[in-house]
Amino acid sequence: MKLRRAGADDRDRLLAWRNRPEIVALGSSQRTVRPDEHDAWYARVSQDPRTRLYIVESDAGDPIGQVRFDPHGSGEAIVSIYLIAGHTGRGEGTRALSEATQRAASELGARRVWAVIRDTNVASQTSFARAGYARCSAQEPQPADLACADHLVYRWEAP
Ligand SMILES: CC(C)(COP(=O)(O)OP(=O)(O)OC[C@H]1O[C@@H](n2cnc3c(N)ncnc32)[C@H](O)[C@@H]1OP(=O)(O)O)[C@@H](O)C(=O)NCCC(=O)NCCS
Repeated sequence: MKLRRAGADDRDRLLAWRNRPEIVALGSSQRTVRPDEHDAWYARVSQDPRTRLYIVESDAGDPIGQVRFDPHGSGEAIVSIYLIAGHTGRGEGTRALSEATQRAASELGARRVWAVIRDTNVASQTSFARAGYARCSAQEPQPADLACADHLVYRWEAP
C-alpha cells in the first residue's frame, strides 16, 4: 500500500468512485453527484490548504481508494475513507488510515482527528480502532455537529 496526494489527474477517477453504488450507499445523501457538482467540489478541496486528500494505491500501483481530511475547528480535522469494492478486507485500508492520519496531522498541524461511523459498519469500526482511533463514550464531550443518529464518533489524538 502507498499513499500519494491527489492531483488534477484524479478528478474524474474520484467522480467515478463517488458514484459507485457501494460508495453512494455510504453517503448521507444516498445519491450520485453530477459532474459539474463534483468539479466545483474538487476545485475547492484541491485549493484548500486545510484539506488533505490522498489516493491509496495497491502494492501493484493501482489506485484503490481515498482518504480525506477536512478542517474541523482549530487544530482538528475530520476524516473519511473508502476503498473500492474488491480491495477491502486485506488490511490495506487500515494501514492507509493509520499512515494517512499521522501524515495529515503532521502536515496540517492537527492534534485531533474525528471520524463518524455508522453503528452497523463493524468493519470500519474495527479498522479505525486498529489505526489508533478510540470510540468516544456518550459521556465524553464531543462536537455537537458530529452527533448523528445511528452513528458513532471516533477520535484520534496526536501522541
Ligand atoms: C473501512 C475500510 C477502509 C477498512 O479497510 P480494510 O482494509 O478493509 O480493513 P481490514 O482489512 O483491516 O479489515 C478490518 C476488519 O474489518 C472487517 N472487514 C473488512 N472488510 C470486510 C468486508 N468486506 N466484509 C466484512 N468484514 C470486513 C474484518 O472483520 C476485519 O477484521 P479481521 O481482520 O479481524 O477479519 C474498508 O473496509 C472500506 O473501504 N470499506 C468500505 C467503505 C467504508 O465503510 N468506509 C468507512 C466509512 S466510515
